[in-house]
Amino acid sequence: MPEKKKKVVAKKVTSKTVATKPAQKTVKSVKAEDKSKKIKKIPQTVRGMKDILPQDGQLWRHLHAVADNISNSYNFEFVETPILEEAALFVKTIGKNTDIISKEMYAFEDRDGSKLALRPEGTASIVRSYLNNGMISLSQPVNMWYYGPMFRHERPQAGRYRQFHQYGCEIIGNADAVADAQLIVMGYNFFRDLGINANVYINSIGTPEDRERYIVELVGYFRSKRSYLSEESKLRISKNPLRILDSKDPQDQEVVAEAPQIIDWLSEKSKTYFMKVLEYLDELDIPYVLKPTLVRGLDYYTDTVFEFFDVDSPEKSQSALGGGGRYNLLIEELGGEATPATGFAIGLDRVALILKKKIETKEFTPNAGKLKLYFAHLGDPAKKRALFLIEELRRGGIAVYHNFGKPSLKAQLEQANKHDVSHAIILGQKEMQDDTIIIRDMSSGIQEMVDQKKIVREIEKLQRNSQ
Ligand code: HAM
Repeated sequence: MPEKKKKVVAKKVTSKTVATKPAQKTVKSVKAEDKSKKIKKIPQTVRGMKDILPQDGQLWRHLHAVADNISNSYNFEFVETPILEEAALFVKTIGKNTDIISKEMYAFEDRDGSKLALRPEGTASIVRSYLNNGMISLSQPVNMWYYGPMFRHERPQAGRYRQFHQYGCEIIGNADAVADAQLIVMGYNFFRDLGINANVYINSIGTPEDRERYIVELVGYFRSKRSYLSEESKLRISKNPLRILDSKDPQDQEVVAEAPQIIDWLSEKSKTYFMKVLEYLDELDIPYVLKPTLVRGLDYYTDTVFEFFDVDSPEKSQSALGGGGRYNLLIEELGGEATPATGFAIGLDRVALILKKKIETKEFTPNAGKLKLYFAHLGDPAKKRALFLIEELRRGGIAVYHNFGKPSLKAQLEQANKHDVSHAIILGQKEMQDDTIIIRDMSSGIQEMVDQKKIVREIEKLQRNSQ
């Protein structure tokens, strides 16, 4: 005991120990504590929704740039539709018995009582826009592309969010199988340009009549195997039997493996059409896998349906990176003239996850081939000149990191290192006097002194040499 006492006495008394000395709690102090706790509660994102953070900014801009580039090179026009639409638009097109509508759509009543929804996907809105804006009078087909946030109230997990982003392409007004094949090539090339090896799974679900005949057969089969199915699939037998086909439940999968296949119920016309799509893919040397159970989770499809998967992801955790298909009846169903259409959408958040892993393993660098530069200055006159030179560089299409809030050159160069730049451009007092500027290679430490007036040309030269 005496030893313990000694320890307490020996303890150094600091402002911290004084501050943490427990004080008698009065009612007043408890109330004040509660209040300060309340103030400190920082708002959080809504579950299943996330920020895109500065460290991922380059990656997302790269995704957009590749989408932009692919779409332009196939002559698609960029469009943007509102995030809010009438809820009925999605119910009518996606189908009221689908998971998206029955479980996942963010629908609510507006102040005037109208029923609105946050868009769960892009196709319905594009078709609405095509009809509203008389695009039928444009030269057909109309090729459109888009990207933006979509909303589904799903159970959040890696790669599955309540707000996610899609890049999508739609061809409206072309009934030829070549349009389906071209979209598949576009999607495939989007992944290839990002260094992702994509698998294409493909199937045909024929016409609604083909499907009706097939569903009779399928329901009969599932009823005969009812006791082997999961509870969810049992409910789906009468509601949406096609969805049982892509159930992830291992119990269901055994039953599905023996199920009748839709391909055997296709009309001659749909079969011939599907063969043509496959022939074009063969011609274009696009590898694909025929997947008889692929039916997709939206009701508007006819004939071709397809999905993209990452070849290198383990089979178990695989969820589609994108999907699409033909929707020849949708425009008529929404009140327009019968107009054939086809399209796809890719889930950019899932693509970003793959690329983030590739960045970690150095298999991928966003903006590879573009120099990362930092402009450092020393002193007030140099700061003014730096402003001017940074503007010159910007006009030459060259971006530089800089920080006018850090006067110390050492601090600026430390920041340059943090940004992992390849070169620092340094403007000190001596350089100000003789109109020169230093370009320092950050990995070798080798410095070169160049004429300030030639800075843009010098950086362009470096850029060319680094490619
Ligand atoms: P979808 O298959 O519902 O098709 O969605 C396309 C892609 O969006 C999916 O393959 C997936 O990568 C991504 N995605 C879907 N839900 C989520 C989620 N909760 N979190 C993260 N990513 C998700 C469509 O949306 C159709 N509009 C495609 C289409 C266009 N068909 C014809 N034209």
